[in-house]
Amino acid sequence: MTLSDKELLFAEKHKHITHNDTYLKLKSVPRHGSTNTFDHSVRVAMMATDLAKFIYVDSESASKVGLLHDFCLVDYHKDDKDVHNGRWYCFYHPEDAVINSELEGFYLSYVEKKAIWSHMFPLSTCIPTSRLGYLLTFCDKVVATQESFANITEGLFRFKPFLLKMRLCVSNVITRKPN
Ligand SMILES: [Fe+2]
Ligand SMILES: [Fe+2]
Repeated sequence: MTLSDKELLFAEKHKHITHNDTYLKLKSVPRHGSTNTFDHSVRVAMMATDLAKFIYVDSESASKVGLLHDFCLVDYHKDDKDVHNGRWYCFYHPEDAVINSELEGFYLSYVEKKAIWSHMFPLSTCIPTSRLGYLLTFCDKVVATQESFANITEGLFRFKPFLLKMRLCVSNVITRKPN
């Protein structure tokens, strides 16, 4: 799954984040089977920015938390549980995202940090407490679902020749005349 022209333009508009050398490493961190964490974050940020005005949320804040919410360089497929004392990725990656953002000099207000910490709700004990927080967790789930389905579709396309053969075999069995 690749970024659309509109999404690429959005990423370019926020180049103070998306051109950062450490942030660019997210391109090699896979996500949801069909994409990488950089592209996923751009999609979440763009959706959050588009919806922000409808619930009176600052669109710049929405863009920022969308882009930074998964700023964690650990690939959860390879997490050997040594990195964070055996904690689960879903619990520690929002904390890493805030730490990494600050290390790279991206300023986050308390409300923005809280939105990032709680974006895994209800899979974490940190509950969103602002409209920005609910917007982020909503957009993250919609985009993640879309990316996961894309993975299933791409998987099915990879098996297309096999599936066609199977269908042919099944229809041969069904239509075969009895001797
Ligand atoms: Fe996340
Ligand atoms: Fe995410």
